[in-house]
Amino acid sequence: MNKLLYLSGEDVIKLGGLDMKTALAEVEQALKLVYQKDCIVPGKISMGFGNSIADESTKGRINAMPSYLGGEFDIAGIKWIGSNPKNIERGLPRASAVIVLNDPDTKMPVCFMNGADISAVRTGASSGVAAKYLAKENAETILLVGAGYQNQMQLEAIYIARPSLKYFYVVDINPEAGKNFCELMGKKLNIEVKALTDYSQCDRIPDITVNATSAPIPVMDIAAAHPGNMHVCVGGLDHPELYKRADKIVCDSWTQVQHRPVCYMAQDALAGKFDDSKIYAEEIGEIIAGDKKGRENDNEFCYYKPVGMGVLDLAIALRLYRKAKQIGAGINLEF
Ligand SMILES: NC(=O)c1ccc[n+]([C@@H]2O[C@H](COP(=O)([O-])OP(=O)(O)OC[C@H]3O[C@@H](n4cnc5c(N)ncnc54)[C@H](O)[C@@H]3O)[C@@H](O)[C@H]2O)c1
Repeated sequence: MNKLLYLSGEDVIKLGGLDMKTALAEVEQALKLVYQKDCIVPGKISMGFGNSIADESTKGRINAMPSYLGGEFDIAGIKWIGSNPKNIERGLPRASAVIVLNDPDTKMPVCFMNGADISAVRTGASSGVAAKYLAKENAETILLVGAGYQNQMQLEAIYIARPSLKYFYVVDINPEAGKNFCELMGKKLNIEVKALTDYSQCDRIPDITVNATSAPIPVMDIAAAHPGNMHVCVGGLDHPELYKRADKIVCDSWTQVQHRPVCYMAQDALAGKFDDSKIYAEEIGEIIAGDKKGRENDNEFCYYKPVGMGVLDLAIALRLYRKAKQIGAGINLEF
């Protein structure tokens, strides 16, 4: 009888699911393999509730992200991730996910695990990788818009990539969320984070800005488009002109960004209002592989747009599955 290993959220954490340093290396390698086409990444299927993408901010969505990751990983699987921003009011996390790993040869499922933390960690790691190549070497100030779970991971990953950071700001329309973020991340990273309710309150010029909100309206100020900055549009809308001011636009995968056009850049391109030959690197893997340069001076405004791919989840999930098998963690289910 075939066995299917079940790993709960607690198992995932005990197995090292929140180990950002290791995740950064795995995600960097996975992004390189995407560029080298050693993977299968079908477009994500998004089951949005309501009539438009904007409705997702009140009604939610569930996304299916199947993929295969080659190289030293050689693993297939799928992440099925539900999300509803209204969950926060119910005391529930916005996003919940399950990941199924499949043997790449037999195609049989081998592991079924809680994927919520893995999803957040890989999203942070993707921006950490971007910071390594696109942020100023001596970056000192970071400003994050959105004091949710994603930006916790963004900050942790980016701080690993840029330990020169000294000044930390978080902007949230909900002052309570901002306060909690400062307490939590202050303790976790041994830093002082200042909570703001508007970008304009920031008393320094940031070297790194991140938008990770679920707002249906543009929240990232155009002021982020200044020389030397690296901006990451993780989720939520930036000022519509922001990406157009970039000296270098880089995506995790432009194909996938267009497939799920939740940002102005993708929407403009699909409407014929943006010529995508202006994108510097359609896949950050091109920079990781050394085929293109990252940031070349302290004056460039670099813009990173990750949409997220299932292969990034698989890269981390595989390590946890292997470790669980090695130490006998989780529950073996008859399949
Ligand atoms: N690109 C990717 O790979 C990827 C992966 C996962 C999640 N995301 C996206 O990241 C976003 C954030 O996710 P999360 O889990 O942190 O959500 P969350 O709901 O936990 O946090 C979002 C925060 O944004 C704040 N916010 C809402 N409107 C705002 C505004 N106008 N100005 C300032 N702050 C505002 C909320 O108060 C909340 O604290 C979502 O849009 C999600 O879809 C992207």
